[in-house]
Amino acid sequence: MAKKDINWGELGFGYVKTDYRFVANFKDGKWDDGALITDENIVINECAGVLQYAQTCFEGLKAYTTEDGKIVCFRPDLNAQRMADSCERLKMPVFPVEKFVEAVEKVVEANADFVPPYGSGATLYLRPYMFGSNAVIGVKPATEYQFRIFATPVGPYFKGGVKPLTLRISDLDRAAPMGTGHIKAGLNYAMSLYNIVDAHDNGYDENMYTDSATHTYIEETGGANIIFVTKDGKVVTPKSNTILPSITRRSLMIVAKDYLGLEVEERPVKVSELENFAECGLCGTAAVISPVGKVVDHGKEICFPAGMTEMGPITKKLYDTLTGIQMGRLEAPEGWINVIK
Ligand code: PLP
Ligand code: COI
Repeated sequence: MAKKDINWGELGFGYVKTDYRFVANFKDGKWDDGALITDENIVINECAGVLQYAQTCFEGLKAYTTEDGKIVCFRPDLNAQRMADSCERLKMPVFPVEKFVEAVEKVVEANADFVPPYGSGATLYLRPYMFGSNAVIGVKPATEYQFRIFATPVGPYFKGGVKPLTLRISDLDRAAPMGTGHIKAGLNYAMSLYNIVDAHDNGYDENMYTDSATHTYIEETGGANIIFVTKDGKVVTPKSNTILPSITRRSLMIVAKDYLGLEVEERPVKVSELENFAECGLCGTAAVISPVGKVVDHGKEICFPAGMTEMGPITKKLYDTLTGIQMGRLEAPEGWINVIK
């Protein structure tokens, strides 16, 4: 089979229908075997738990073509585990970790012609998700669920590729203390939509959320964790139990320490410290590492010395090393790369 006729270099972060998706159903207390199907549409009851009470969670990971022509994905076991954590918190049945990884492999293999070629700048984004599918009118968990994975080829999450972003400190909150900020629940994204549209309308690329209890500590953005680089080259990332434990961020901290010999620190980061940092970046599967040039805190502009035209030097090293591992140019730590074909 030949690669699909897609202009890979022009892809943005959007939905492109691919040939196969995986679906498994949970009923009478157990998961069925699941299968690959071709129909991209879903028919569910009008009173389904997902439609009435937003009982849904999701994941995001990518498949890459490596320099030597293999198709791989990056740490899918961690997505499986994080989805299990999301399910526990939302009273949804866990989809077993090994079955999750197998289903990822099946979807990638079946859609191999949609995996962008090496060097194209695009990747195949995988979206595992689960939702309550049977009718629930009282506020309670559904008893039937669907687990699905679809694939879509994507380019950069932020328009303009690696041009540094402008963020604003948000007035609205993302995650309550003891709430659901640490899991990948659909509801966390629904409640961020007003704020992202407002940010864009006001000329900002994203919102930088602070802790909702005191509004003094930096948390993350609507779709990515944050890393900072100090003027003496240390990599710092906010520690909080109300941010999503990003797999990219956790991997970057290892890359910084073990590949680049940098000092790393995960600790609470105050908003007032922003002006001390030399570099800032957003990190996530979709964002990869997107450099931040400026943060606006209620009219006060904090401009990182790395500037508004390109990535800062350490951010660039982190980016090159992480993507080098993902694309097979650099040797990966044990267990990070799952070779699919
Ligand atoms: N934070 C939020 C709110 C996200 O939606 C994502 C995306 O998955 C991330 C962080 C980054 O996580 P990861 O690196 O696992 O993709
Ligand atoms: C991802 O990076 O995979 C996400 O889920 C973030 C989302 C905002 C696209």
